[in-house]
Amino acid sequence: MPPRCILVTGASRGLGAALAERCAAPGVALRLVARGAEGLAVTAARCAARGAEVATAAIDVRDAAAMSARLASWEAERPFDTIIANAGISRGTGPDGDAEGLDGATAQVAVNLLGAMHAIEPLLPGFRARRAGRIALVASVAAYRGLPDAPGYAASKAGLRVYGEGLRAALGPRGIAVTVVLPGFFDSAMGSRWQGRRPLAMTLDRAADITHAAILRGARRCAFPLPLAVLLRVLDALPAGMSDWAVRRMRFRIAPEA
Ligand SMILES: NC(=O)c1ccc[n+]([C@@H]2O[C@H](COP(=O)([O-])OP(=O)(O)OC[C@H]3O[C@@H](n4cnc5c(N)ncnc54)[C@H](OP(=O)(O)O)[C@@H]3O)[C@@H](O)[C@H]2O)c1
Repeated sequence: MPPRCILVTGASRGLGAALAERCAAPGVALRLVARGAEGLAVTAARCAARGAEVATAAIDVRDAAAMSARLASWEAERPFDTIIANAGISRGTGPDGDAEGLDGATAQVAVNLLGAMHAIEPLLPGFRARRAGRIALVASVAAYRGLPDAPGYAASKAGLRVYGEGLRAALGPRGIAVTVVLPGFFDSAMGSRWQGRRPLAMTLDRAADITHAAILRGARRCAFPLPLAVLLRVLDALPAGMSDWAVRRMRFRIAPEA
């Protein structure tokens, strides 16, 4: 059955907004979360124009209490059947390559990993009781291999990947589909800050189409573009020194947030 009540975090722009629009249809309820009320309003209007019933909440996903309270009240109105945990940040690195720093590294873990848990965990009892539901976690191909320019970002996404895989193994037999999404580079506010090489970068629309299709069919893993995902997995399997040398030569670089 197609999703009927869907939570999307990070829906104020980028992939989250594009996924919300793809899910929007008559009979579908969308619950959109991000910090930026303005961006959320734009996404909500686009989804409503497609016939969806839409509610928004300007919440920081790091705020576990606020997330729990809001999710409980939405769940009481209309139970969720789908969670798309997409909100994410990349803090970027300076010219010295080590500017993620303590604040940057911990902020990425707080938003990208803990923020996803804050979106998912409060809704799991309902999903388990109904023995149904879908959960998508938007990680990154960076989850496969620590990147010299973004160790904290890669760590946050690796954590999210294995958290999603654990959930998938636990919840699959209970009728709940979990999709771990591992995108490569695509165009967005975040994507535009990636400097240097962006191998096989794709448009936002293409990334959203691939992700949306994977969620609909209940794919267990959705890593794209495949050659980049395979490359990073192979790099991880190499002897550590060789793997470090190769990943340094990729010269990924993320401009610091403005
Ligand atoms: N773009 C790429 O090349 C790429 C590659 C691999 C994976 N990804 C992943 O794909 C996901 C979407 O990225 P994107 O490129 O669409 O990024 P984006 O355009 O920067 O959008 C990120 C979204 O997350 C929200 N967000 C950030 N911090 C938040 C917080 N503390 N609380 C609530 N919402 C928050 C932002 O909204 P507010 O700022 O309004 O809160 C925004 O809606 C992210 O998880 C990212 O790591 C992106």
